[in-house]
Amino acid sequence: MGKYVIAGNWKMNKTPAEAVELIEAIKPLVADATCDVVVGVPFVDLPAALEAVKGSKIGVAAQNCHWEKSGAYTGEISAEMLKAMEVGYVILGHSERRTYFGDTDVTVQKRMRAALDAGLTVILCVGEYLEQREQGITGEIVAMQTKVALGGVSEEELARVIIAYEPVWAIGTGRTATAEQANEVCAQIRDVIAGLYNDKAAKAVTIQYGGSMNAANAAELLAQSDVDGGLIGGASLKPADFATIVAAAK
Ligand code: 13P
Repeated sequence: MGKYVIAGNWKMNKTPAEAVELIEAIKPLVADATCDVVVGVPFVDLPAALEAVKGSKIGVAAQNCHWEKSGAYTGEISAEMLKAMEVGYVILGHSERRTYFGDTDVTVQKRMRAALDAGLTVILCVGEYLEQREQGITGEIVAMQTKVALGGVSEEELARVIIAYEPVWAIGTGRTATAEQANEVCAQIRDVIAGLYNDKAAKAVTIQYGGSMNAANAAELLAQSDVDGGLIGGASLKPADFATIVAAAK
């Protein structure tokens, strides 16, 4: 449906020197990629990563941004700062930020506004906890997260939003959603987009799956009708595995 995008989320891993090493290892392996390829690195790795990807098609993402341009927010990084560095992407609303650092649908919406205003492309993460899936409310949860985050986002701006469906119970657990489960929820998110905007926007939006996607299961997940890519944690730190996932995104 949407353009295929494979993005690595390195989380809190790799020093700047290690980031360069990893990108140098990935670069030749994804040189022929037909999808967009992105690496989401820690803030301190951004300068080194931006330098290392030069001459390749790899984009660089930050893993969060604040909603204000500047001010008394100790420890925070603004979207404006990312823009000034020519960072292309920012991951917002990751479940680890929601769970450990108090991010809510409302703060994700504020971050979204700032990121889009700064010209960044956003990878918006949504997904349910296991209890919510067991309660049968996955559709409602991801619809709510998607709708709140996209509040005030125009159809034109939506072209710079990628949505990553990441069931929390599948993240870092080795317990991947089945291809059917992933596709079902990605299709539900697409329906939400159709409702908020229109069918054309829904077809064009990239919806990724994330959560224990790896070299062995990527092809099946990426073959699903509504899965347009992946947001990869652990496997994105292994060049050969990441490249296998990229190659599977056709
Ligand atoms: P894992 O691939 O390690 O499960 O992490 C997924 C994720 O959270 C990507 O954002």
